[in-house]
Amino acid sequence: MTKSHKGWKQYEGGVAKTYCELRDRHENPGRQLLRKFVDSLMPDWRYRGYAREGHSLLDVGCGDGLDLVFYHKEHKSLDAHGLWVYGIEPCRTMAKLAERRLQSERMRNTVFEGSWDDFSQVREEKRGFDVVTACFSLHHATDLVAAFRNVYSCLHRGGHFAFVVPALAPTVDQRVVNASLFGGELTVRYPVRTVQAWYEAIDRSVSERCVWKSVDEMESPPGKWKWVHHTTFSMSGDENGEKDGWFVVLKKLRW
Ligand SMILES: C[S@@+](CC[C@H](N)C(=O)[O-])C[C@H]1O[C@@H](n2cnc3c(N)ncnc32)[C@H](O)[C@@H]1O
Repeated sequence: MTKSHKGWKQYEGGVAKTYCELRDRHENPGRQLLRKFVDSLMPDWRYRGYAREGHSLLDVGCGDGLDLVFYHKEHKSLDAHGLWVYGIEPCRTMAKLAERRLQSERMRNTVFEGSWDDFSQVREEKRGFDVVTACFSLHHATDLVAAFRNVYSCLHRGGHFAFVVPALAPTVDQRVVNASLFGGELTVRYPVRTVQAWYEAIDRSVSERCVWKSVDEMESPPGKWKWVHHTTFSMSGDENGEKDGWFVVLKKLRW
């Protein structure tokens, strides 16, 4: 059922612009959590200062590149090289918007075509990342195991994967739902999975052989995710409101 779900197709054309306009008018505590987390990595990166090529971040499902520009600007002073930011975006309209945004900030276009199932362009770049982020895109993945495995494979050892997704239904069977966003102004279809399904996918992604290796992991033995943090949050920003988002941070470890 979910194999046929190509979540990005629904953002093509005018929907991309509508989504971005609505997003810019609404607070998103999930985005703030991600930004704060990336910020929290900086002192350690500065302290270790080992970056020969600069530190790097990959944002998957980066949309129009809003967060790419934010991370780039915010961490310009990181070291001589700054923070290299890359994106993956399967929706052509979104990718074009991202390209324009990066251009207007005089940044190189580093948005790859790809999806949670397809990291081939990133792989060709032969780059490992210190952090991978995903702001409300991972729930669109058709194959969660492949998604976690792709991220695992392109992270440097000790690197983090931080993502926010809509809150998970504890018991619902896997099915595709029509979810209304921004108080009903936009409807988006995506597969809902149980909490169990997410945990299993995270586990399975590292207990099966990784398909490719990051630049510093030439012979990568079976690895492991460490759960660094996870919490639910309310989209309305109201502490007592319904918890409708899930924020997770995983770290790439070795056995
Ligand atoms: C809700 S938007 C979020 C965009 C951006 N991260 C932001 O916060 O503004 C979801 C994004 O996920 C992308 N997406 C959908 N399916 C995807 C997939 N299978 N792999 C990667 N990205 C996907 C869409 O094209 C869209 O840009």
